[in-house]
Amino acid sequence: MTNTPQLNGKVAIVTGGSSGIGLAIASVLRARGASVMIGARNAARVDRAKQNLAAGGDCVDGAPLDVRDPDQVEAFVGHTVKRFGGLDILINNAGIGGFAKIADQSLEEWRSIIDTNLSGVFYCCRAAIPHLRRRGGGFIINISSLAGKNAFPEAGAYCASKAALNMFSEVLMQEVRYDDIRVSYVMPGSVTTAFDGGRAQAGSDWKMTAEDIAEVVLDIVSINRRTLASRVEMRPAKPKK
Ligand SMILES: NC(=O)c1ccc[n+]([C@@H]2O[C@H](COP(=O)([O-])OP(=O)(O)OC[C@H]3O[C@@H](n4cnc5c(N)ncnc54)[C@H](OP(=O)(O)O)[C@@H]3O)[C@@H](O)[C@H]2O)c1
Repeated sequence: MTNTPQLNGKVAIVTGGSSGIGLAIASVLRARGASVMIGARNAARVDRAKQNLAAGGDCVDGAPLDVRDPDQVEAFVGHTVKRFGGLDILINNAGIGGFAKIADQSLEEWRSIIDTNLSGVFYCCRAAIPHLRRRGGGFIINISSLAGKNAFPEAGAYCASKAALNMFSEVLMQEVRYDDIRVSYVMPGSVTTAFDGGRAQAGSDWKMTAEDIAEVVLDIVSINRRTLASRVEMRPAKPKK
């Protein structure tokens, strides 16, 4: 895969682009010339990330977004298209955990995980696809997880949401491939981010970094037109024994 893909003139949305993996993806896309729109719930964090990403250019914007709300998603996508003239790349990265035994999981937490990790992706794809078609194609990249294929206790909602996201991505891939829209899902294992509340920073050198995931996303959007990296698994090379 190429090391210096140029994304000048391309427009990307990164949900959950205010921290962790989303921020790293927004940063590499921006560095390669794309205009980037980020969205997440916490407006102050979106603003901070936007300022860091912008550093000297005006091709970055951001706005508060809750992907669980289809009306907000429509407005956000519409704003992006108006602001930058179209849409070429949708990165569905926003996601949450929330770990409890199934018997003990609250209804509220269950709904929030499924609504964010699964329904939110549906809302974003539904809003974005007409715009991608208008540009003659593009990319949808869903940030899933190895938890979508490896079950573990106290992660019922999370594992189920990511397993469903994988199947959703496979179906969508087949539905839009002849529109030149390439759909991929990336399944990372452990990544050092704030995902677990920041607890795992010390002694977590064995984990991947957000930048490692972003590099692979960049490879996916840089691959030649005849090829689609539809499902990508990523794991630490040497996990803690
Ligand atoms: N870290 C890992 O080990 C790991 C491994 C595999 C997969 N993943 C996946 O990678 C993705 C990113 O996780 P991360 O590790 O980078 O975590 P993170 O640092 O906590 O980032 C999550 C991002 O999503 C946003 N977000 C959460 N709920 C949202 C909502 N309803 N609407 C819009 N934005 C929302 C958050 O901002 P707000 O809270 O302000 O909304 C934040 O910007 C997730 O889908 C996660 O499942 C992570």
